Amino acid sequence: MSDFKRPDSGILIIFGAGGDLTWRKLLPAMYDLYVENFLPDNVAIVGLDRKDMTDKAFRKRAKDGVETFSRFKDTLKEQWKDFEEKLHYLTGEVDSDATYDLLSEKLSSIDKVWEGETNHMFYLATPPFLIEPISKGLATSHLLDAEDRTRIVVEKPFGHDLASAKELNDKLLQYCPETQIYRIDHYLGKETVQNILAFRFANALFEPVWDRRYIDHVQITVAESVGVGHRGGYYDHAGALRDMVQNHLMQILCLVAMEPPVSFGAEEIRSRKVDVLRAIRPVEPEDVFDVTARGQYDDGWVQGEHVPAYKQEEDVAKRSSTETFAALKLHVDNWRWRGVPFYLRSGKRLTERVSEVVIRFKPVPHQAFPSGASQFEPNDVVIHLQPDEGISVDIQAKKPGLGMRLGAVDMHFSYNEAFHQPSPEAYETLLLDVFRGDATLFMRSDQVELAWAIVMPILQTWAASEDIDNYDAGTWGPDSATELIARDGRSWLRPRRLNTHHESKRESKEHASSSKGEH
Ligand code: BG6
Repeated sequence: MSDFKRPDSGILIIFGAGGDLTWRKLLPAMYDLYVENFLPDNVAIVGLDRKDMTDKAFRKRAKDGVETFSRFKDTLKEQWKDFEEKLHYLTGEVDSDATYDLLSEKLSSIDKVWEGETNHMFYLATPPFLIEPISKGLATSHLLDAEDRTRIVVEKPFGHDLASAKELNDKLLQYCPETQIYRIDHYLGKETVQNILAFRFANALFEPVWDRRYIDHVQITVAESVGVGHRGGYYDHAGALRDMVQNHLMQILCLVAMEPPVSFGAEEIRSRKVDVLRAIRPVEPEDVFDVTARGQYDDGWVQGEHVPAYKQEEDVAKRSSTETFAALKLHVDNWRWRGVPFYLRSGKRLTERVSEVVIRFKPVPHQAFPSGASQFEPNDVVIHLQPDEGISVDIQAKKPGLGMRLGAVDMHFSYNEAFHQPSPEAYETLLLDVFRGDATLFMRSDQVELAWAIVMPILQTWAASEDIDNYDAGTWGPDSATELIARDGRSWLRPRRLNTHHESKRESKEHASSSKGEH
């Protein structure tokens, strides 16, 4: 993520090359980087999977993915021919020595043609149980020996709980040092998530008020309108807390709450984030139901379409008690944040797809305006993560007209309006960083373990009870989520589209009182 310099020659080796992630994300992202001239001249992609496929068939499948998902699909006519020659495919079982021999030969044959040194990046787009055998295979066949030129990229989920994450870290660290391991959290590759750092630390305006003296509370919402789709088999053993909160939301929280870094080096940024995780007050088992809410979607209407209940989804147990919605309140016990609650929520089949962070400020200390001049509304800074990308600041202003009457207005910055250029996909940013050996946006082992440690008491307490609230698909989640925040005299703020004109602020009385958690 630092200044751009084209990376050195490199080969991306993808384990799980026949899978959905490769087709949908990795190959389109590599193509986009290629079109934008971010990749080195000497670059190759070697796909590996157990399925028998020729180079030609792999290239055809890659083209199909690029045609569907690339930002630059219009350029295929001119650019595809050259790009596809960089794609190779090998068939192999990950637990067979022969596979690693074959891979070594292939890599040497490509390296031989190029001058100078080459980076080898092994991307594990595979189910988690294959991480260990693949790393072992790579290590024993000496494919990881060049420490500064080889990297392993590991996809989430990283473990199923704290114990399994620790075990996985221990195993991986037997085969290579931490500096070679790139644990992906794709939210960190999102432009707007990275912009939290720019917003906070490149502006003098906000940082002086970014603490307990001025901030009342913080809300982090990551809402999806989609259901589990074809991932029911995985999701039913995970749930929203593992799938979204332990990683994506916790990382967003870290960026909002961290102390200013001394530099933008990978270790520095990651250490400041670790400081936040260490400061999060452990949730005591007896408090779990007071500070959390969970729910599972029933059937309902989402954007005009009738959708089935979670239990009716493919590969989901008919009596499943897995949560598809999770909300929690956390406290960051340090000098800056003591006493400021952080409310987090995430769920599937909610009203709309929207992710945002709201920083709600405290009221002004004294209301000098005549009574009736306004209904008091506090300031909010809203960081719009997706689908809109930007930041808005809600302030009070004098309404035009005679007399002193106040109203809420917002000042906003929108990526679209300001920069007139589309943002790269998260996977483009992350893959390029892997090529360049920049681990800033990747998870260090201690980050992963601390994030697990925070959610463990919640997971354990929830697991002991099957009592889960339902919510209608197309709403904002279960009543228990509304109650969770209402207990503190607050309410969830209705996510609002950036750039849309609004007459009054979105906080509405009906929030707390609406049924089924609708706002
Ligand atoms: C993934 C989760 O990590 O993130 C999915 O496993 C979720 O369940 C996805 O749908 C959301 O990502 P995005 O980028 O669409 O917000």
